[in-house]
Amino acid sequence: GVQILATLILGYLLGSIPFGLILTRLFGAGDIRAIGSGNIGATNVLRTGRKGLAAATLIGDALKGTLAVLIASRIGEGNALIAGFAVVIGHIFPVWLGFKGGKGVATFLGVLIGLAWPVAIGFAVVWLAVAALFRFSSLAALVATLATPIAFVVLGQRPQAILFVVLAAIVWWKHTPNIVRLRAGTEGRIGDKG
Ligand code: G3P
Repeated sequence: GVQILATLILGYLLGSIPFGLILTRLFGAGDIRAIGSGNIGATNVLRTGRKGLAAATLIGDALKGTLAVLIASRIGEGNALIAGFAVVIGHIFPVWLGFKGGKGVATFLGVLIGLAWPVAIGFAVVWLAVAALFRFSSLAALVATLATPIAFVVLGQRPQAILFVVLAAIVWWKHTPNIVRLRAGTEGRIGDKG
């Protein structure tokens, strides 16, 4: 009832804070939406050449996910999962930006840290391995987000598997332009400037 609604609203509002956009504006890195992929996430902030701002974006976008889950888990485990859903939705569809938000990868990781930190370590290892091999942030995110619900199926954690299959599907859908570029051989590599 009212607790579920409050959890959804809290998660959504936390998720809709666009750290990449705020930090790049605050620290004079221009409008991130006019650079590189136009995305507001840490990968695109890195294309401005401002590594500190990219790291801060990653941390902020992840921590809001962890925070939403940890606050909601004080009400109950089901609420933690609902908050995890809402915070990623808030990041990807923020009302403040006309529902044009980020791709959800950092926030997905933050939710994972709050819900199941060993799986979050697995996510990070997969992301880093794919990124080290191919130097595409998007490909690393696609593989790591796909691996996450599979990990929960293997662990026999059905509610988590359902949550992350839904979140992975939304993250994949938001990566449609990246998938097109990867297939065309035109995707930018990590470290390339926008
Ligand atoms: O985390 C987002 C990343 O997977 C892709 O970002 O800017 O290359 O579209 P971008």
